[in-house]
Amino acid sequence: MKNIEDLFCFRRSTRKFREDPIPDEAIRKIIDAGLTAPLAMGNDKTTHITVVQNREVLEAIRKCCMKESRKAPGKMLDSLYGAPAFIILSVADVSDDHIEYCDVACVIENMILEATNLSLGSCYIWGCLRKLRKSPETMAKLCIPEGYEILSAMVCGYPEKPLEAREKKSRITVNMI
Ligand SMILES: Cc1cc2nc3c(=O)[nH]c(=O)nc-3n(C[C@H](O)[C@H](O)[C@H](O)COP(=O)(O)O)c2cc1C
Repeated sequence: MKNIEDLFCFRRSTRKFREDPIPDEAIRKIIDAGLTAPLAMGNDKTTHITVVQNREVLEAIRKCCMKESRKAPGKMLDSLYGAPAFIILSVADVSDDHIEYCDVACVIENMILEATNLSLGSCYIWGCLRKLRKSPETMAKLCIPEGYEILSAMVCGYPEKPLEAREKKSRITVNMI
């Protein structure tokens, strides 16, 4: 168990994974971390987590979510980076103020920090979700509850190289009053 400051230093977006599956106990811990996240009042009843580890379904998602390389135009890349687990956050209703996007970000960050605690790599996934939503064939494989909309996702798995602590130089500005 790392302390919280270590978790912040070790967490990074991992974009190269080993194929090995994640042990059930680790997946359970990651989900449990997500379940303890703060949510806007009442939204625990309308938030859903889908954990995809089935190789066939992962392959279908990969196929529909390929993205073109910025460095090498024409070359298609795996938006899931070869990860053995794809975790999707969906909600029943997006309200006018879009607060549900905040909810799912809290859930995902909790899961990402627990993954880091277990020395697993992870990455928030957003960019490819539009393609996923537009593919009824792939969506059908995900068994998202009726009326729910996918808002965010993450990938997770053993990183190709072990996670290393780093000092992150953030460009977020801070004002102390
Ligand atoms: C809301 C959100 C959406 C993101 N979407 C993607 C994505 O679709 N694909 C990806 O590779 N990384 C995605 N990221 C990861 C960011 O690119 C990454 O956090 C940022 O570059 C900082 O790097 P670090 O996570 O290693 O500190 C996303 C992060 C956030 C918070």
